Amino acid sequence: MKKYTVAVVGVGAVGQEMIRVLKQRAFPVGDLRVFARSDRTITIDGIEYAVKELKDGAFKGVNIALFAGTEGEKGAANAFAAQAIKEGAVVIDNGADFRMKKDVPLVVPEANAKDIKTHKGIIANPNCSTIQMIVALAPIYKRFGLKRIIASTYQAVSGSGRSGIVQIENEYRQWATNTPESVERPMGDPISFNLFPHIGGFSDDDYTTEEWKVVHETHKIFHDKKIKISCTAVRVSVRNGHSEAVYFETSKPCTVQKIRALLSKAQGVILMDDPKNNKYPMPIHCDGKDETFVGRIRRDPFVKNAFWVWIVADNLRKGAATNAVQIAEELIKK
Ligand SMILES: NC(=O)c1ccc[n+]([C@@H]2O[C@H](COP(=O)([O-])OP(=O)(O)OC[C@H]3O[C@@H](n4cnc5c(N)ncnc54)[C@H](OP(=O)(O)O)[C@@H]3O)[C@@H](O)[C@H]2O)c1
Repeated sequence: MKKYTVAVVGVGAVGQEMIRVLKQRAFPVGDLRVFARSDRTITIDGIEYAVKELKDGAFKGVNIALFAGTEGEKGAANAFAAQAIKEGAVVIDNGADFRMKKDVPLVVPEANAKDIKTHKGIIANPNCSTIQMIVALAPIYKRFGLKRIIASTYQAVSGSGRSGIVQIENEYRQWATNTPESVERPMGDPISFNLFPHIGGFSDDDYTTEEWKVVHETHKIFHDKKIKISCTAVRVSVRNGHSEAVYFETSKPCTVQKIRALLSKAQGVILMDDPKNNKYPMPIHCDGKDETFVGRIRRDPFVKNAFWVWIVADNLRKGAATNAVQIAEELIKK
């Protein structure tokens, strides 16, 4: 079997999960190069990895570069993706910098794997909250069409990176041990026993960037800008695993039974929908898993062909690392 030279850029919450996912899914890695902003050694599941500072020439000989660096002007993708492509790698980027660019496919393999072949050196992973919603809604969209989506997200602190995980752990430790230690709060406010109805920056229309990502990315992935979508994104006091309550209206007549039947066979979905026995997905079910869990399927009591679903997934895995590695798997198939 052909083996590939793979680079992972960033060793924060997502980058470390990428290294784990590559191994767990037995991606045919010949040589693995790991980059961040400085040289060091990290240990993941008992294995040591040498991390090198990202510099010119780092991607020579690399076939696939999985980017999990910070977004923005000084972020890894803006600074190094063009170089990686020039040096011969195909870039799969987790950040938002390239997602909405016209010639960059935005891919959730369960929904639009075919878009991968249009890439010109870079393929983007959607935002974590978009990915899990797409996995659950894609089969419904393909069979019944969708004209309206209203999503409320309940996003874990790991979605804000390694620093968010450290903050929540320190806050609960401080509370449990009743110590006066002062806790750094990169998220701004306390997240223990709390939530923030605000992720990302506010736009002029008072929606946040995180909320608009769900709208624009869903339109791009489905190649359908007619779906009327709006979202409220909330950061909750959960360590890992995003949840979403999603309302949708189908274009063609549909029933709860038909949705259950579709989702019970859908790629990447685990149906967990037995309300009489209190069975529904929770973040603890999805932690460390690659699938998207769906439950609480029910019809809206007032609107025809309108339904609610509850969708939960591991944001570091399906919402980031696993989706990127799945794209790499599709790439090498082609
Ligand atoms: N967390 C999630 O659930 C999630 C989900 C979907 C997408 N994403 C996206 O995935 C990316 C990574 O997120 P994260 O949560 O893993 O963040 P993180 O925990 O803050 O880690 C960021 C990593 O990027 C590295 N980095 C930043 N700028 C760099 C540069 N210029 N050159 C090389 N390395 C650089 C950092 O290096 P140092 O360690 O040396 O500082 C660090 O290892 C972000 O774009 C994020 O938006 C995250």
